Amino acid sequence: GKVAVLMGGRSAEREVSIMSGTGVLKALRSKGVDAHAFDPAERDMSELKRDGFARCFIALHGRFGEDGTVQGALELLGIPYTGPGVMASAVAMDKLMTKRIWVAEGLSTPAWRQVRSAAETRAAFEALGSPMIVKPVREGSTIGLTKVVSAEQCEAAYALAAQQDPMVMCEQFIAGDEVTCPVLGTGGSARALPVIRIVAPDGNYDYQNKYFTDDTQYLVPCGLPEGEEAAIQALVLKAFLALDCRGWARADVMIDAVTRKPYLLEINTSPGMTGHSLVPMSARAAGISYEDLCVRLLATAAL
Ligand code: DAL
Ligand code: MG
Repeated sequence: GKVAVLMGGRSAEREVSIMSGTGVLKALRSKGVDAHAFDPAERDMSELKRDGFARCFIALHGRFGEDGTVQGALELLGIPYTGPGVMASAVAMDKLMTKRIWVAEGLSTPAWRQVRSAAETRAAFEALGSPMIVKPVREGSTIGLTKVVSAEQCEAAYALAAQQDPMVMCEQFIAGDEVTCPVLGTGGSARALPVIRIVAPDGNYDYQNKYFTDDTQYLVPCGLPEGEEAAIQALVLKAFLALDCRGWARADVMIDAVTRKPYLLEINTSPGMTGHSLVPMSARAAGISYEDLCVRLLATAAL
């Protein structure tokens, strides 16, 4: 049947979603799938049913796409979709809720505080130490994020994050290796893919270096000792299952340079599929082409 690739949307990551969706659409078509682009920012979700779409590939990022809202609409319409369900999507979009669950499950994540003002951000800086990350609770692609190294930066950092989301959080910065690891599958058959180590210019893996420069190095094989890579894969798989994710997701992790302990930062339930994105890179290292990955993901579409 007809497949809708949901792309665009109305979050701050709209531009990224269009890049992801364009890639997915082309790949599915190259494999003979009758795939069509569908932008829920421009059309009504009920048109999916009216136009006879049998399944949806969700290539939306951020709010109104990755956060359970679109998933809920598809549940009501009865159209199977790729990726985690309503609850997992909603929890994963909220970095505070995610951390609470991980901590309850004994999984390591950097110390954090929710802040509601610039003054609370300064207090958090006192408590958490320098450097500290200030970021919107429900945003992606490092939009609205600041690495704070002095108390004077707290006010601007809070204002920048609050511009994206009234919920703002501070998080201890873990200095060390930045890695990411996708998981494919569901329940007992979910598996972690190869870990990618990210080496960004000046350690700044920001929006520009994520999508538009070629200055970021992506190492896969990651070059970490074998035991460390396996430990990260095991941690990420637990993080995925703790939130009851299904289909796919990608967790971002920092490894403390001194203790070598890995810390979970977040899990993305609709990971980027752009030419610079990480899941396709990791899948390729596991022998899965971009096109095959898209077909495999589509096959996991469920309600
Ligand atoms: N939020 C972006 C799309 C990612 O995690 O890949
Ligand atoms: Mg993210």
